[in-house]
Amino acid sequence: MKELTPKEIVKELDKFVIGQDKAKRSVAIALRNRWRRQQVKDKLKDEILPNNIIMIGPTGVGKTEIARRLANLSHAPFIKVEATKFTEVGYVGRDVESMIRDLTRIAHHIVEQEYESRVWDDAKNMAEDRILNKLFPVPEPETSNEQEKERIEKTRNKLRKMFKDGKFEDKYIEIEVSQQPPSSGISVMGPIGGDMEGAGDFLNDAMSSLMGKKKKKQKTKVKDARRILTQEEAQKLIDKSEVNQEALNRVENNGIVFLDEIDKIASDESGRGADVSRQGVQRDLLPIVEGSTVNTKHGMVKTEHILFIAAGSFSKTKPSDLIPELQGRFPIRVELNSLSTNDFVQILTHPQNALIKQYQALLKAEKIDLTFTKGAIQTIAEKSTEVNTKTENIGARRLHTVLTQILDHLMFNAPDVDKKITINDKKVHSSLDKIVLDEDLSRYIL
Ligand SMILES: Nc1ncnc2c1ncn2[C@@H]1O[C@H](COP(=O)(O)OP(=O)(O)OP(=O)(O)O)[C@@H](O)[C@H]1O
Ligand SMILES: [Mg+2]
Repeated sequence: MKELTPKEIVKELDKFVIGQDKAKRSVAIALRNRWRRQQVKDKLKDEILPNNIIMIGPTGVGKTEIARRLANLSHAPFIKVEATKFTEVGYVGRDVESMIRDLTRIAHHIVEQEYESRVWDDAKNMAEDRILNKLFPVPEPETSNEQEKERIEKTRNKLRKMFKDGKFEDKYIEIEVSQQPPSSGISVMGPIGGDMEGAGDFLNDAMSSLMGKKKKKQKTKVKDARRILTQEEAQKLIDKSEVNQEALNRVENNGIVFLDEIDKIASDESGRGADVSRQGVQRDLLPIVEGSTVNTKHGMVKTEHILFIAAGSFSKTKPSDLIPELQGRFPIRVELNSLSTNDFVQILTHPQNALIKQYQALLKAEKIDLTFTKGAIQTIAEKSTEVNTKTENIGARRLHTVLTQILDHLMFNAPDVDKKITINDKKVHSSLDKIVLDEDLSRYIL
């Protein structure tokens, strides 16, 4: 897999996120620096710390969107967590270390799949041999008769060919499968929070190896058996401890934690009540961001080089309301701009997942061809800006509510409508004008 250069990363992000160039640039550099650090061979490597970033910007302008897209294009283990989900050790809620445990699980999964894919062809051959033996059990060889042996071998090769050609895919065979670990049923809960969560992991694992490794006979179609048995053979072919080691290595050196809603754990001057626990969460976060060791079920993870990208709207608090030590650990601040009417036009039409494209795809299922005129799109963008200014600024999220309003009638009546629908400027006005004029109405509807 090729690591993307900063320019390539930005280019990829551009496919989904409009504007916000500074933020894209920063995350691209930070991501590439991980790879650059990996190339450093001497002791200096340990000294090079990640460029932790705080993205600051009003609500609905693309902070979380950048993180989501970044996750998809970096091959690194990536986890997005909400800072508000965590509570101080000892309180009800998740302790901060759980994010590292989750990240490690993700890394382990990635590495395991990589290793499996390397042995997949061999595993598949082994699985197919097992299936063939089930379908046509090998007869006892009659050692004395060479001709007979040859005949059996011939038949078998014929059958193998038919099998490879997919002639038996829907036949049922009985295979033994290891039962799924009972993770859904029993879960060990430690006393709330703290290190016991890790212990819970460990116990769960111990339980599943005690109970879960039991084999169960099951009838399945050949095509399903192939998948199940290939997986099983692949598991036998990979070196588990190597996978574990590599997973730990990946988390420690390439792991990325996206800490969303960090502004919600900053506390303003008053510093009382709920704020005490917020500060507590910050204090718990600090050692993880600074570098400490977290015990996971795959082993100990050093967090020093994990990249943290935090984001928050900071509407009620400021980055300077975070405890100073934590601020110091996020040296890079990028501000995201609020979005203009022009940005809205772009957001409606340009991204691969643009809202208008989504609606078009939905209606295509009804064989309806939906188009928007340029004028309509311009007006939608203008009206969205207007409502954002008059009521509350929720950024691009406004486009969702506005479009829902415009298309409500159509979405309800489809498929019993014309097969070709064009939304023009006039239609947009007639759906929105009355509501936009009435501030109270827009508060509720848009
Ligand atoms: N710059 C943008 N380009 C494309 N789409 C955007 C952009 N900004 C926002 N959106 C759209 O708006 C939605 C909300 O954006 P996002 O979740 O990134 O907001 P946010 O900045 O994280 O806000 P909050 O502070 O409330 O969490 C996204 O799902 C996306 O569809
Ligand atoms: Mg967000």
